[in-house]
Amino acid sequence: MAEAQARQLGEHAENVTEDVSAERLAESGLRFEVDGEIATITLDRPDKRNAQTFATWSALAAIGDNLPEQVRVVVVKGEGPSFSAGIDLRMFTPEGVPGQGSFSSVARSGDTDFEHNIRKAQAGFLWLRRPEIVSIAAVHGHAIGAGFQLALSCDLRIVADDVKFCMKEPALGLVPDLTGTKPLVELVGLAKAVDICLTARMVHAEEAMRIGLAEQVVARDDLDRAVRDKAAELLSTNRDAAAATKRLLQGARARTLEEQSLAEGLEQAVRIKTLFGG
Ligand code: ACO
Repeated sequence: MAEAQARQLGEHAENVTEDVSAERLAESGLRFEVDGEIATITLDRPDKRNAQTFATWSALAAIGDNLPEQVRVVVVKGEGPSFSAGIDLRMFTPEGVPGQGSFSSVARSGDTDFEHNIRKAQAGFLWLRRPEIVSIAAVHGHAIGAGFQLALSCDLRIVADDVKFCMKEPALGLVPDLTGTKPLVELVGLAKAVDICLTARMVHAEEAMRIGLAEQVVARDDLDRAVRDKAAELLSTNRDAAAATKRLLQGARARTLEEQSLAEGLEQAVRIKTLFGG
């Protein structure tokens, strides 16, 4: 379902440029490296706590559109003291972000442009759920607003013991609209999601682990190693079986037990024919 949605949104994002040069990424506050089957996206504006702009989201979408086929694991991490302090606060000023406008200019645009721009931004997050990859957010320090939602857009969150998640949007008069509300509710349940979002409070490592927001908490210095170890574990399974299993797991909530059993059988038929069909 998430995949179909991602594809649909991708179709709306026809203006997403295909340019994923290091220069363009640097201008968008990102680095991108591929090492065999592992790709790493680094939020790289540490002096501004990895604040994100529309250019960041457009570049994220372009990375997704151009992801090398061999990649099976995508790691998203942040440089410096924070994972990400969320949207660039210049958006709230009349001047905005140079070349990218402001909330004032967005408010003056027509409804179609407005929806189109939001969908373009969301496309930068949605591809991280593709069945062909497993995405891991390596989160340390602050993950606020868009930073929290970027972590939520990944399949797994491995966090440092100094992590501080905060859904700040309602405190600023906004709603979280970068695809984070559904995974949050699915991970922690409706009541806890209401508590977290409508208070805009910080969620620290111990609570993140306890409520299912984080898969693993490690010391800050061990974060990279823990993510590498998890990537190695993920790569130890069969590539096609992993993608088929992820499709099944992603669809499970929306299906009845009978429908899910049928879906399992269909995926397994493909696996067995591929493995043993001669
Ligand atoms: N946008 C733009 N610049 C930012 C942002 C941001 N979201 N967050 C931090 N910065 C800048 C600061 O202005 C400062 O820049 P300067 O050195 O030129 O003055 C620099 O990053 C360092 O910030 P500090 O506040 O000094 O860093 P500190 O480590 O003490 O605090 C923290 C980090 C808690 C993340 C704090 O910066 C903060 O609260 N930032 C704003 C968070 C926010 O409200 N984000 C919007 C959420 S809503 C959404 O994302 C849709």
